[in-house]
Amino acid sequence: MRGIVLAGGSGTRLHPVTRAVSKHLLPVYDKPMVYYPISMLMLAGIREILIITTPHDQEQFVRLLGDGSQWGISLRFAIQPEPNGLAEAFLIGADHRAGGPAALVLGDNIFFGHGMTGLLTDAVSTIDRDGGCVLFGYRVSDPERYGVAVLDADGALVDIEEKPAQPRSDLAVTGMYFYDEQVVDIARGLSPSARGELEITDLNRVYLQQGRASLADLGRGTAWLDTGTHDSLLEASQFVQVLQHRQGITISCLEEIAMRQGLITGEDALRLADQMGKSSYGAYLRKAATEFLAGS
Ligand code: G1P
Repeated sequence: MRGIVLAGGSGTRLHPVTRAVSKHLLPVYDKPMVYYPISMLMLAGIREILIITTPHDQEQFVRLLGDGSQWGISLRFAIQPEPNGLAEAFLIGADHRAGGPAALVLGDNIFFGHGMTGLLTDAVSTIDRDGGCVLFGYRVSDPERYGVAVLDADGALVDIEEKPAQPRSDLAVTGMYFYDEQVVDIARGLSPSARGELEITDLNRVYLQQGRASLADLGRGTAWLDTGTHDSLLEASQFVQVLQHRQGITISCLEEIAMRQGLITGEDALRLADQMGKSSYGAYLRKAATEFLAGS
């Protein structure tokens, strides 16, 4: 399976902060926001990732992320010229995807939880085995801001509505989606919505109408954080800070993930830590790599 991180959009809700820099490159505590969605794809076992940005932001993403070889993965870059909707990611990615199943993570979605890796690898196995799509639901206090999942009495997914004025549940559909190889054809068949966008919810509804959509509940032990406003961005940073300080871990440390997945060696990770100057991120990586080498 291949991955797509959609990091386009103008980020107007964060102006003036995002006038000169992409929202997805802003720090969430100690690392750029885009590290978090990339880590989800890596934890899902995905090794080929397309990063979609606006035309003017692409250069900075390339400077930050390179070709991915430092993490043992392959990163490629593509442009979304206009914010024409999330489902357009599959049209842009059609060449890159080359006929296989694909996972999409929105560049501003942050997930953290104990069972996350299992949920991700389960989603990949489900798609490999049964096809269709796997979505993730998360209970929120403001469902009207999101795609909202409607379940029947048995907990089966029966409807998805995009930003309904009167939500029929409090289960938001998060910005991480796994699809079989039909996703490009389905995206090609979509028409723009009233707001002129190719909606991911419309794409998901096609899978649902075909009886091929499933929803995994992330549950209350998982964090799905918003970064869309100045307050929520600060809160996301504080969440990451509190957890990291308390546990002595670093969330979404891409070098550590690559090392533990065997994509790079402990020596490689140490070398990468040396390139991080005196940052606490680098210090953590150095410690993790040293312990890894001592234990291996
Ligand atoms: C988009 C989707 C929505 C989803 C949300 C998750 O909304 O349209 O269905 O719940 O991402 O972050 P947007 O952030 O584009 O308003």
